[in-house]
Amino acid sequence: RPAGAVAADRFGFDAIAANTLDTVTVPEGYEWKMLVSWGDPLWSDVPAFDPATRGTAESQARAFGDNNDGMALFERDGTTVIAVNNEYTNRDIIWGNRPEGKPADADDLRKGMMAHGVSVMEIRAGDEGWSVIQDSPLNRRITPMTDMTLTGPAAGHELLRTAADPEGTTARGTWNNCGNGRTPWGTYLTCEENFNGYFSASQDGFEPVAELKRYGISDKDWGYGWAAIDARFDVSQEPNEPNRAGYVVEVDPFDPQSTPRKLTALGRFKHENAELVMTGDGRAVVYMGDDERGEFLYRFVSDPPEAGAKAGPALLEKGTLYAARFTDDQTGRWLPLTPETTGMTEAEICIHTRQAASSVGATTMDRPEWVASHPERAEVYVALTNNKNRGLKPNAGGDETPVGGPNPREANVYGQILRWRPADEDHTSDEFAWDLFALAGNPEVHDGPKAGSDNINAGNMFNSPDGMSFDRRGMLWIQTDGKYSNEGDFAGMGNNQMLVGDTTTGEIRRFLVGPRECEVTGMMWAPDGKTVFVGIQHPGEDGNSAFPGTQGVPRSGIVAVRRTDGAQIA
Ligand code: FEO
Ligand code: CA
Ligand code: CA
Ligand code: CA
Repeated sequence: RPAGAVAADRFGFDAIAANTLDTVTVPEGYEWKMLVSWGDPLWSDVPAFDPATRGTAESQARAFGDNNDGMALFERDGTTVIAVNNEYTNRDIIWGNRPEGKPADADDLRKGMMAHGVSVMEIRAGDEGWSVIQDSPLNRRITPMTDMTLTGPAAGHELLRTAADPEGTTARGTWNNCGNGRTPWGTYLTCEENFNGYFSASQDGFEPVAELKRYGISDKDWGYGWAAIDARFDVSQEPNEPNRAGYVVEVDPFDPQSTPRKLTALGRFKHENAELVMTGDGRAVVYMGDDERGEFLYRFVSDPPEAGAKAGPALLEKGTLYAARFTDDQTGRWLPLTPETTGMTEAEICIHTRQAASSVGATTMDRPEWVASHPERAEVYVALTNNKNRGLKPNAGGDETPVGGPNPREANVYGQILRWRPADEDHTSDEFAWDLFALAGNPEVHDGPKAGSDNINAGNMFNSPDGMSFDRRGMLWIQTDGKYSNEGDFAGMGNNQMLVGDTTTGEIRRFLVGPRECEVTGMMWAPDGKTVFVGIQHPGEDGNSAFPGTQGVPRSGIVAVRRTDGAQIA
């Protein structure tokens, strides 16, 4: 082939080697550029990102948030809007202009808070590729201060009532938005993951109740300091506030005035993403992982729609939650979480979902991250990212984590990709068959289980699969959030990366390598399939990157990747 030409096989590219460069690397015949980075203003009256100050609360509230993760693209009447999660912020970086990287005042704390949430932006394609349209009336920042409606069985429950919301029906804000989903009716689903790390207690010796400890709530936050600027994050003052987070939230990307809806029917846990599949009879099935060592994999099946009703938000307000049980013979079962099976009310199941799943004997998993459903066949994949505690100790308040089934390795440092096929090719079946699509490992360093499955080799090694989604051809895109030491167990793996898997043959090829100390997470496609947008999160989290530029301050962002010949990628 001529130089610069791309492979003509099903993958459409030649695999690239691992590396530890501080840039994005793509295959021969492809190119990339930044679409948007942390702190880029969404409105023209906001100052450009300033590496000396790293912005203020006011500028950050009207600029692209930090640590972008899940994202989706929506089109209507020729207008393109993207919704992007801003999961969290690297405190050493956002406050890196202050002594020892510590917040100096309340504005610093508010700036950190405003870096969280969701950024909604209009984008447009021009001669130079895609760009963000500043001042579009569709641009919006959703933050931990945005008013939201609580929907579903738990709305109004006493566990959701607070001083600010005595009815328990309106919550404020969303934070730690990790993976995402989208609905056939054109809304964005943003998933609240590690919501616990923002709460603290002002009262000496305060002990959260066991129900909160199971979710990781303690008397100390992770350094965000939100209780100092907003008393609802002080659990000794407002013990129910943590019950109002940990949900999937539905956002209308085309209506900046709309009130986001927290969907309690989909359960409360550390949500990774929400993969929605429609059934032939108009029900929505949503697959969801709870990303914590030894927690569970879930399914929601909506109640049938009213006769003649179009698919819409009501489908995500009422239905049944299930947790998965896996058996060593490669079969499994969805266990319904109902008042009959759990002894809990419907509302309690939606608030204390982990406890409900424990009560029915679901299988503790190696940190379920993204779930991806095959576009052409009833086959679903989940990334089980890693679990250093597998076989050793349970999650706080959780269940034992024996080695076996889809979690076959003690102290699992590499992770695996599990798949299952619902019985009768029906996503509402309670039975399924499972196998492992890939067991990540290092065949250059280890023999046996730590070498990984047969489709892992010296040329495609990776660890900690995390983001996953299918393209419309049925190729599986796999993103990693793992160890990037490039030594020991991880020698030869380089920086975090994105790979493509052919789920029919099992072959996996590396497509992209991210800059130093990033994870690669979140992806979406331009409508013409000629550009794939990829998220680069927390480059330089340990202080060793200046990506994407020369300003010295590393910034998370979205890169747009296309072929140099302008042809379709997928
Ligand atoms: Fe935010 Fe489980 O990754
Ligand atoms: Ca993730
Ligand atoms: Ca991860
Ligand atoms: Ca992350």
